[in-house]
Amino acid sequence: MAYRHIEVSPLAGACGAEVSGVDLARDLEDAVVADIRRAFLDHLVAVFRDQDLTPERHVALARRFGTPERHPMVRAVDGHPEIIAVTKLEHETANFGGIWHYDLTFQAKPAVGSLLYALEVPPYGGDTLFANQYLAYETLSDGLKAVLDGLDTVHTNRAWAPREAYGAHRSIKLYEDDWKEMEATHPAIAAHHETGRKTLFVNSNSSLRFVGWTEEESRPLLAHLAHHATRPEFTCRVRWQPGTLVFWDNRCAMHYAVNDYHGRRRILHRVSIGGERAPSRIAGPLHEDKAA
Ligand code: SIN
Repeated sequence: MAYRHIEVSPLAGACGAEVSGVDLARDLEDAVVADIRRAFLDHLVAVFRDQDLTPERHVALARRFGTPERHPMVRAVDGHPEIIAVTKLEHETANFGGIWHYDLTFQAKPAVGSLLYALEVPPYGGDTLFANQYLAYETLSDGLKAVLDGLDTVHTNRAWAPREAYGAHRSIKLYEDDWKEMEATHPAIAAHHETGRKTLFVNSNSSLRFVGWTEEESRPLLAHLAHHATRPEFTCRVRWQPGTLVFWDNRCAMHYAVNDYHGRRRILHRVSIGGERAPSRIAGPLHEDKAA
């Protein structure tokens, strides 16, 4: 079905599309929001160029698609509790998000999606990769699908322990004083709440083990899945310019921030939309929240 209010040009075979014909700083009509939501569901990653958003407009835009949530560990931008600054400065080496991951899967209800807006970016480098996890699921063997269909995975925020991962990363400030370990359990194969399609829901950054398996037993299968999930033919690559906004579906796309711009500055603002339901094996009205 054609879009009525926007133009949509795919970026790659697997996922990603540039969306044009819309000024995101304006109050959008419901029909335009509906078109954008469809592009987001169809392509998983919607890329808007040349936008001019204040923090207030950024949050207001996110609100059209759900409820923006406060990051549980990263300090918010002053005066904007729903925005975190994804920053790497000239003297820093570690970046934020430089591993394949879904956002916030250590929460019972992980984010629906995120809207990341570029303020300052290097002249080249600092791209973001996305990987389509519907395709990752669909291309598994029937045997492995059957095994994974019966498995739940424990997700943790251990990788975020302030002094381990972020000791060297000064720009991203954590709420260190009240940092606590968080854990959630999700099906390894989840049904997308809106499309009903099955997606591989294992997170290289946070998945610790399968329920009923030890960490040691889980590691080889998690490593295999991490490798499979990010095959180049499942991915697209977004090159940033100041004013680019990317809105991705965190229920079926993983992402990876490429750290290839040492000596340059990169600053983006991220707003995540809070999860409305826990991931489940069954989509739609039949689904009962297990963590409600
Ligand atoms: C993130 O993981 O949300 C950050 C992605 C990026 O900086 O490209």
